[in-house]
Amino acid sequence: VRVAVLISGTGSNMRKLIERAEQTDSNCEVVLVVSNKPDALGLEIARSFNTATRVNPHTSDRISGDLKLVKILQDFGVELICLAGYMRILSGEFVKHFPSRIINIHPSLLPAFKGAHALQDALEFGVKVVGCTSHFVDELIDHGPIIYQKSIEVEESDNIETIRAKIQKAEHILFPNSMIEVAKRILNKEI
Ligand code: GRF
Repeated sequence: VRVAVLISGTGSNMRKLIERAEQTDSNCEVVLVVSNKPDALGLEIARSFNTATRVNPHTSDRISGDLKLVKILQDFGVELICLAGYMRILSGEFVKHFPSRIINIHPSLLPAFKGAHALQDALEFGVKVVGCTSHFVDELIDHGPIIYQKSIEVEESDNIETIRAKIQKAEHILFPNSMIEVAKRILNKEI
């Protein structure tokens, strides 16, 4: 399955997806990394793996930017799109082009704490369990059928940074596993 990873920043999840796809038992190939930010660190990491990269910068008109992105993805024959810290909302128009073919990783136990400050919001609320969720992407934010979830207990000694690190570690296992699982469903024509 030909995979594209969309990023805006560090790309630590993207790296794990590429590494997982390169394993011999993998059913995926990461053929492209796209960033909406030209200076995203993840672009350099992708190049170090010899993965093709493209930048699709912010346009004032969301739809035209998204349609450019559709074209780039189609040119690479992309069959599955992984959002790995892609901090731009995709339009319904974009999502319509790739039904059941876009997945996202989010640092909360959805449907709780959607949005860009999920962990901060969760800790401010005083939750005792945090986690991460992989899910299919629909036209709503951090919404759509859940693939996998992992919960993590907040301990007395934790602070936001230690919790963030634990969530990230969990994401780095959960998201590659989700990519492989969804690719399997695509190959089996279940979706
Ligand atoms: C992750 O925490 C993910 O849950 C969220 O954005 C972050 C991306 O981090 N959607 P990285 O760029 O993969 O390091």
